[in-house]
Amino acid sequence: MKRHRILFALAALLLAGGWYVKAEADDPLVVQLCDGKTTTTVDKSAPKTKESGQKIAADLMAQWQRAHPEANWIATEREKHSIVEPADNKNVIGRTQGQSYGQVTERDVLNWQRETLAMAVHGSTVFHSGDELGSQIAVSCDMCHPDAANTHAETYPKFQPQLGRVALLRDMINWCIEHPVRGVKLEPDSPKMRALEAYIMAQRKGTAMNYGAR
Ligand code: HEC
Repeated sequence: MKRHRILFALAALLLAGGWYVKAEADDPLVVQLCDGKTTTTVDKSAPKTKESGQKIAADLMAQWQRAHPEANWIATEREKHSIVEPADNKNVIGRTQGQSYGQVTERDVLNWQRETLAMAVHGSTVFHSGDELGSQIAVSCDMCHPDAANTHAETYPKFQPQLGRVALLRDMINWCIEHPVRGVKLEPDSPKMRALEAYIMAQRKGTAMNYGAR
């Protein structure tokens, strides 16, 4: 009699365990941030790619940043200096972009916009800082170009007599780093140069391109 009861209890336990494991497999996966509070849900059956990982991280960080505005360098820089917003691409939500990406989601569009704005904001921090530009004389670009005025990004490429050749915007940025700023020339592909170019272009949003114009 006793043995029956033990066997019955064991069977019940196994059944409940199996049911629990199955239920867990159907639930979405909840991923928690290092703060132990912020969470996001992930579809367990979706393929795990670098992109899907980046989306999870971006979603968690976006929530965390909303909750910690003081830790948000982007917001801080934007309060100090006006930075033009990138285009809003909501019109492409739901469109397919070829086999490898699938459908564009609202989250995709928000991520693209946030990343693009972040690059321009990074450029703004460099543009406004003699230290970031490596200036020996504490001069930064904004001292003569407030909000990137008169940088005329839309006129590049164009012939620049002081360089003796056709200049791209980055060539002119480097010329200005060397000359009024007395800073350290940047590699064309360096993160600072890319960010400076992004910021200067961003500030000319809406201006018609007219390369070569003086
Ligand atoms: C001391 C003042 C001063 C500083 C500092 C300065 N610029 Fe300039 N910048 C000028 C002036 C003046 C011109 C116009 C020169 C001309 O007409 O050829 C100019 C021209 C330019 C141009 C070309 C504009 C055009 O019409 O094609 C760019 C781009 C530019 N600066 C970017 C920068 C950047 C980036 C920095 C910082 C790394 C910087 N400048 C720092 C004064 C300054």
